[in-house]
Formats: sequence, structure tokens, C-alpha cells
Amino acid sequence: MCEHIAESLGCSSDEIRNFKIASMLHDVGKIAVPDSILLKPGFLTKDEFSVIKQHTTVGGKLFSNSRLQLLQMAEEIAKYHHEHWDGSGYPLNLSGNDIPIWARIVTVADIFDALTHDRIYKMAWPLNAAKQYIADHKGHIFDPKIVDIFFTNYDEILKIMDRYQDG
Ligand SMILES: [Fe+2]
Repeated sequence: MCEHIAESLGCSSDEIRNFKIASMLHDVGKIAVPDSILLKPGFLTKDEFSVIKQHTTVGGKLFSNSRLQLLQMAEEIAKYHHEHWDGSGYPLNLSGNDIPIWARIVTVADIFDALTHDRIYKMAWPLNAAKQYIADHKGHIFDPKIVDIFFTNYDEILKIMDRYQDG
């Protein structure tokens, strides 16, 4: 999904190849989150959620100080994929174009993917409800430009999701 959006943005083939790999590593910082929190069904306490939030900074540190584009992308994505366009995300409350473009793409793909699949804390939403969520949060959680590209490519994105369906 990320690869497809980056193609639509006109990114170079090197960038797209690296982005495809880096985007898959977005949640690698969760290795530092105990299973008792990660696999907890239902709602998290405030303290538990603050531990979950640390997966962004932990993930960023794993890839920091590299001169390789792939690892620089992986650092930005791991660190900033929970930032929101309006500044209400974490860990740094970045907003707008201060959030690296790669992270802004992953935010849309990650949330759409999470909504449309079962998670330990919720059932999968119907496709239309997830689609509506993305539309409703354009300009709030999501970069409006990325949402527009997402919808322009919506049918193709559904095909990609089918191809990589992990059950
Ligand atoms: Fe995450």
C-alpha cells in the first residue's frame, strides 16, 4: 500500500524500493513493549498506553545515525508514524509538513490496515466504515494530500490488501 502511494507521488525507484522495506519496520520498537500490554484484550490504562507510545522512540533509536537512505527512512517512519497532521499525535506533537512524508504515508496505510483487520482489542471494521474513518480524519490525523491519493487509488489498494491478506 505504501509503495503504491509513493509511486503515485512520483518518488524515485530507489526511494520506493527503500520505502517499501522501511515501512514494514514501522512497529519494530514494539519489541520493547511487554506482551502483557501488547497482547492485552480491551482497553489500556493510561500508564499502559504511555508504555505503548514508547515504541516510536525506541524504533527510531534502532535506526538512528545511519548514512543509508533505507535506515534514515526507517528511523523517520518508526519515530513519527503516530504523529497527526493537526499536531495531536505522539511522540513529539509534530504537525503538517514537519512530519516526514514517509511517516505521513504510513499513518494512512497503518490505520486503514488496523481498522480492516482483527486486533487483540477489537474486531475488523467493515471496509466502508474504515474508508469513512479515513475521510473523516483528513486534515486531522491524516495529510489531506495523502488521503486524496489514497482515494484516487482505492480500488487498487483493496486489490493489494487482498494479495497480502494475513488473515
Ligand atoms: Fe505503531
